[in-house]
Amino acid sequence: MTNRLLFVCLGNICRSPAAEAVFLHKVDNKGLSDQFLVDSAGTGGWHVGNQADQRMRQAALKRGIEIKSRARQIKRDDFNKFNLILTMDNSNLADVKSLYNDITIETNCLIYPILSFATSTDIVEVPDPYYGGESGFDYVLDLLEDATEGLLKKLLESG
Ligand code: 4NP
Repeated sequence: MTNRLLFVCLGNICRSPAAEAVFLHKVDNKGLSDQFLVDSAGTGGWHVGNQADQRMRQAALKRGIEIKSRARQIKRDDFNKFNLILTMDNSNLADVKSLYNDITIETNCLIYPILSFATSTDIVEVPDPYYGGESGFDYVLDLLEDATEGLLKKLLESG
């Protein structure tokens, strides 16, 4: 399968599971699920095994999107399994690149900030909503809806 996407944030309980669910919702709606392998992970391991943050799940559900994933930490094999890694902020990007540089396996995995695919904003980082109020979760979803739409369009154009 050519489209193997991994969304990455810090804790894997707010932004990247939301990105995964928003992206999956789009491909499901277009009947394209069988063309994509999609997952998410965190650079940190504090929440491994946990469901996504309740506030993030609620905000997504209001849009008809169910976040089903359980948190896990990114691992070496992910650079083999996935061909595109999408990070949420500059810190995730630096951490993932650093992990990538440490591994010696042959891989053609590409790493991009998710917001590089957004078309309605110049913002380059998805803010971490964990310590903020409810509105932060809606804002994250707005950014992710925009960015995943742009990402899906690019992937479908490039075949
Ligand atoms: P996320 O948000 O990276 O979007 O999942 C966070 C959730 C929890 C923590 C940090 C970020 N934490 O430090 O527990």
